[in-house]
Amino acid sequence: MARKVIIAGNWKMNKTATEAKVLVEELKAKVKDITSVEIVVCPPFTSIDAAVKAAAGSNVKVGAQNIHWAENGAFTGEISAQMLKDAGVEYVIIGHSERRQYFGETDETVNKRLKAALAAGLKPIVCIGELLDEREGGHTQKVLFTQLEGGLSGITGEQMEGIVIAYEPVWAIGTGKTATPEMAEETHCYIRQQLGDMFGQEVAGKIRIQYGGSMKADNAASLVAQKNIDGGLIGGASLKADSFADLIRNSIK
Ligand code: 13P
Repeated sequence: MARKVIIAGNWKMNKTATEAKVLVEELKAKVKDITSVEIVVCPPFTSIDAAVKAAAGSNVKVGAQNIHWAENGAFTGEISAQMLKDAGVEYVIIGHSERRQYFGETDETVNKRLKAALAAGLKPIVCIGELLDEREGGHTQKVLFTQLEGGLSGITGEQMEGIVIAYEPVWAIGTGKTATPEMAEETHCYIRQQLGDMFGQEVAGKIRIQYGGSMKADNAASLVAQKNIDGGLIGGASLKADSFADLIRNSIK
């Protein structure tokens, strides 16, 4: 069974609610004919409501950039799964490298967030990826193995089929340095093999693995053409309707 390409825009800490409304309205008009690519935008929490309203009835879905694992309680500044569900969110990014780097995210907290998201019926996008010195030191596979093992601990094969993995080499994020399609494919292939060892080949064959890191309209086609690359998680190029719509169109297999 073919895996449907999924392109998700991670807006990071960009776009007010007013700007989100404009961006989603422009985007949905540009991509309304596209059915073979799943399209997601992930605004900051304060812009989710505006994005959900603007995207209503279109083929643009809305995701969040983080989630807390508790149902509710004294966790100042945090947002629960139920709050996201109630706001109309469908996807949630978990364990982005910026959260790991700046906010103390670990494989253990990724795992807790993942379980909370699944319990609420949210679709998780779990991010993994190596740092530059880890790649240069020849540790890429070991790093990814550890992130997969810890982040996906206790997850069933059935749950795994609904989880998207985003492979984002940290050295390629916001740097303009994209992994070559061949380099990315080699790593995606390794990730799928590991998922096969953990959950069986049948499940691994259904899991979508996105590439992320300086993906743009002009390199999207060559990345998505690779056998094990099933879409992208896009930062900078998702902030303008034109560039994001072009990227989505170029990702049609
Ligand atoms: P850029 O596309 O800006 O490199 O960001 C990638 C990313 O981190 C998406 O989550």
